[in-house]
Amino acid sequence: MESFHGVLENRLYSQISWRQWVFIVTIGLLLVLGVAILISSVTFLHASNNDVPDKCAGPWKQSLQESSQGELETNPTTSAYVETLFGDSCSGDDSCPENSVCESGQCSCNLTYIAHSGKCYKVLNLALGKAVFGSSTMPGRKATEGWENAVDGRTKVRDFNLIFHTGFELYPWLSIALGGVGLVKNITLYNRIDNYGRWLHDVETRVGNSSDWSKLSTCGTFVGPSKTGQIHTIECGTLLAGTIVTAKIVKPNYIKDDPAARGGRNSLVLEEVVVEGIFL
Ligand SMILES: *[C@@H]1O[C@H](CO)[C@@H](O)[C@H](O)[C@H]1NC(C)=O
Ligand SMILES: *[C@@H]1O[C@H](CO)[C@@H](O)[C@H](O)[C@H]1NC(C)=O
Ligand SMILES: *[C@@H]1O[C@H](CO)[C@@H](O)[C@H](O)[C@H]1NC(C)=O
Repeated sequence: MESFHGVLENRLYSQISWRQWVFIVTIGLLLVLGVAILISSVTFLHASNNDVPDKCAGPWKQSLQESSQGELETNPTTSAYVETLFGDSCSGDDSCPENSVCESGQCSCNLTYIAHSGKCYKVLNLALGKAVFGSSTMPGRKATEGWENAVDGRTKVRDFNLIFHTGFELYPWLSIALGGVGLVKNITLYNRIDNYGRWLHDVETRVGNSSDWSKLSTCGTFVGPSKTGQIHTIECGTLLAGTIVTAKIVKPNYIKDDPAARGGRNSLVLEEVVVEGIFL
């Protein structure tokens, strides 16, 4: 006995003539061919856009690459150029933002530049000429007198009246108001060059947006002790953002043979403080 399915098949075959069969097969072949052409052209275009090495790179692909490169060179202000991000993959310096180069396939800023929001910014001394506040000032000086010496750009002044000098206290400090939000990379302390350089020790540096020490982020600490004329650069582990940079002696004085240091009293004395970074 024939199944229901078999009956249906028999009827279908008997109803379709050989002309109709040829027609159906031809249409089917054309469809398959069309889909194949579509798929291969999509993959080809995709490959040339991504610069994937292609064994069958013919003149067509070459002209595609040349035209897109030419566009970048003649029109460097197109968004495609400006938005190239630091760390993006690149094939040459031309495909990286200004002041950056293509290194091992990635855009990276030149030395003395810092990457921020896909651009490279020149590193500056953010502290130069800015407002300085001290915990105190040297005996004999008027309040606030001489604080500005810490950021006057002079690093080799012998006259102790022309350097930054606090009074004698346990934990003296100085704060610099950068006058904007800085992204700080490192902080350099220039010790005095005349004498008494050993007084500089255990200076912790912090960056942030507050006059409250406990609310600032630590950049790093110079432990020392230092010597007269030495220069100490403290590298912040990560770039720190803030409007205030503070340097503070955080341990009682280790010096025992100087009556000015009795009770562990310190004095923070510096030729200069240089804060290297960029303004945001
Ligand atoms: C910085 O990078 C640019 C490329 O954008 C390059 O032309 C220039 O020579 C580089 N400068 C230094 C000092 O490396
Ligand atoms: C501090 O950072 C600047 C900017 O990157 C760099 O040029 C300088 O060499 C650094 N200083 C030290 C001592 O590492
Ligand atoms: C200081 O303020 C800036 C801008 O608002 C912010 O980006 C930064 O994270 C702040 N710094 C700290 C240490 O809170």
